[in-house]
Amino acid sequence: MGRVALVTGASSGLGKELARELASRRYDLVLVSRRRDALEGLVEELRAGYGINAWAVDYDLSNVGGINEFISKVKGLGITIKVLINNAGAGVYGPLNELNEEDIVRIINLNYIAPILLTKGFLNDLARERGCVVNVISLAAHIPIPWLGIYTSTKAALANITDSLRIELKPLGIRVIGVYPGYMRTNFFSNTIASPTASKARENPMGPVLDPAYVAREIANKVDNPNFNGDVVPGTAYRIASVFVRPLYPLIRYYVGRWFSRKYRGIINYGK
Ligand SMILES: NC(=O)c1ccc[n+]([C@@H]2O[C@H](COP(=O)([O-])OP(=O)(O)OC[C@H]3O[C@@H](n4cnc5c(N)ncnc54)[C@H](OP(=O)(O)O)[C@@H]3O)[C@@H](O)[C@H]2O)c1
Repeated sequence: MGRVALVTGASSGLGKELARELASRRYDLVLVSRRRDALEGLVEELRAGYGINAWAVDYDLSNVGGINEFISKVKGLGITIKVLINNAGAGVYGPLNELNEEDIVRIINLNYIAPILLTKGFLNDLARERGCVVNVISLAAHIPIPWLGIYTSTKAALANITDSLRIELKPLGIRVIGVYPGYMRTNFFSNTIASPTASKARENPMGPVLDPAYVAREIANKVDNPNFNGDVVPGTAYRIASVFVRPLYPLIRYYVGRWFSRKYRGIINYGK
């Protein structure tokens, strides 16, 4: 058995490209998402194309109560995880009063709680293999975005624990890589749960749109570099922006506030 990587959210977008990229580098793969058909199609493609071992394990990662059972199922395949890629994620978009409580909890569980529990569950494997965890975060972690605050705050929390765990797990020989993409050409926006008002007010991307295959390559290069234990910001424009986004946070917050109050004045009145 070769090196094994587990990729969550492997049925589309960045996760699918990561699976293809890692397969081309001879990783065996455990592919996880809810849609079994999509995963099985990819397993076939990768086995045939690269001669690797690959398994499809369908699971709804927002169901954090059952996650230990899911982890046991993966361990029951008789493999040891060397690379854990916490990529599955989704958004919920709209004014707070229109959001469904269950959707809010599901998104927090999927984007924030599941990566923590998976890291904990595979810790022994990762330490034995001197492996690494990759958390797919977002540049939006550093920006307050009205109507998207549930999503951005899960990513901010994930960013924080990524930094903490990088320090904590280093003595175990486990690297923890944070990935901060800007806009990528994936199904993310069509998969985002939008409230009635938000669906009428969809925004266009404000920044270059990245090819997920390129982002996957950038990530895999860092995974394969045993000396790399830090953050990845794919794309030159986003890399430059990322340098300024934290020091300029108060200014960004001010301008986001001005933009929002102009653009959405009168659209919503919170029960007035
Ligand atoms: N696209 C962007 O512009 C962008 C920017 C910054 C960061 N990101 C982050 O990049 C990551 C990948 O997103 P993407 O852009 O590739 O979007 P995507 O095409 O919508 O892919 C999301 C993946 O997550 C899986 N998923 C969603 N809900 C799940 C659940 N409850 N349980 C298990 N798997 C679930 C989906 O598969 P199933 O439907 O089969 O479950 C799918 O494979 C996310 O963490 C996202 O926050 C995206």
